[in-house]
Amino acid sequence: MASPFEAPDPSQQQAQIPWAALSHIFMFGNGKGGVGKSSVSANAAGKAARSGLRTLIIDCNAQGNIARELGYKRAEWNDGGAGLLEALRNGTPLQPRQGVRENLDVVMGGPALGDEFGIFFHTLLAKEGPHAYLRLLMCLLPIAHEYQIIILDTPPENPSLQRLALSAARWLIIPVKSDGGAEDGLAQIGLEFSYVKFVSQINPHLALLGVLLFDTGRTYTGIHADVRRQVQKVLGEEAHMFKHLIGHTESVARLVRKRGLLVQELAELRTEGDRTVPGTVEGLAADYEGFTEEMFARALELRKEAAA
Ligand SMILES: Nc1ncnc2c1ncn2[C@@H]1O[C@H](COP(=O)(O)OP(=O)(O)OP(=O)(O)O)[C@@H](O)[C@H]1O
Ligand SMILES: [Mg+2]
Repeated sequence: MASPFEAPDPSQQQAQIPWAALSHIFMFGNGKGGVGKSSVSANAAGKAARSGLRTLIIDCNAQGNIARELGYKRAEWNDGGAGLLEALRNGTPLQPRQGVRENLDVVMGGPALGDEFGIFFHTLLAKEGPHAYLRLLMCLLPIAHEYQIIILDTPPENPSLQRLALSAARWLIIPVKSDGGAEDGLAQIGLEFSYVKFVSQINPHLALLGVLLFDTGRTYTGIHADVRRQVQKVLGEEAHMFKHLIGHTESVARLVRKRGLLVQELAELRTEGDRTVPGTVEGLAADYEGFTEEMFARALELRKEAAA
C-alpha cells in the first residue's frame, strides 16, 4: 500500500494529462535570439483575439518583451514574471492578467524568470528528474479550457524554460531569419524537440507545425529557397515551411515597441489618417494575418490526420 505521507509521484501526473484536449497550445521557439519569436507570438495572439477567439499568451522570457509588443511595460500591474514563477514554484494554477486586449489575457514574463527561476528549477529538477519539465503544463491545465488559443513565447538562452514550454505545447513553430547562421539555432531547438518528444517522452504529442521565415524581403525567392534547404538539412526533409512569411519592415517594427501597439492596431491608425505610421504597415499586417490563418489551418489539418 502506498504511504499517505509519500509525495505525489510526478510520473503519475503524465498518465493523467488529457492530451487530446490540449491541441490549442502553440509555442514559438528557436535556439537563436532575435528571430521573431516574440513579435510573431504577440501578433498571432492579437490576430486570434481580434477574430473573437479567447486567447492567452504566456511570456516565458526573462526579457519580458511581450510587454513591449502589447504596451504594458510600465503598467503598475506588470509583475515582471513574479506570478508565473510563484505558480511554477507552488504548482498552482496560472493567474493571467485579464483583458490586456479584448479576448486577450497575458501571463507576464520578466526578470523573475532569470536567476530566481534558475535556482528554484535546479532544485525541482534534482527532486523530480525530467518530470519537473511538466510543471508549466500542470499550472496551465486548470485554466487551459478557458481559452481557444494559447501561445507560448520562449527564450533562446534558457533551456529549462524552453523545455518547460516544449513539454506543454502541442505545436512548435520555429521562426528563422535568412541572415545566415540559422543552423545553430535550428539544431538546438531540434535537439530539444527530440529530447522532449522521443528521448524522455515527456510530451509525446508535441509536433513541429512548421518553420516561418521572419524579417525577409518578400520577393527574395532565391534566398527563401536557400533557407528552405538549410532548414531541411538540419530538421529533415519533412520539415514544413509556412507559405506565408513575415516581411522586413524595420520602421514599423520600431514603432510597434515605441507605441506598444500590435501591427494590426498600427495599420488601423494609418487607415484612420495617422501619417506617422509608415505605409509599409499594411503589407506587414497582411503578412501576420495570412500567417496566423495558415498556422491554425495547418494545426487543424494535422490534427484531423492524426485522428484518422
Ligand atoms: N517585420 C520586421 N522587420 C524587421 N525587424 C523586425 C520586424 N518585426 C520585428 N522586428 C525586430 O526584430 C527584432 C527581433 O524580434 P523579436 O524580439 O521578436 O525576436 P525574438 O526571437 O523574440 O528575440 P529574443 O530571442 O531576443 O527573444 C526586434 O528588434 C524587433 O523589433
Ligand atoms: Mg523574444
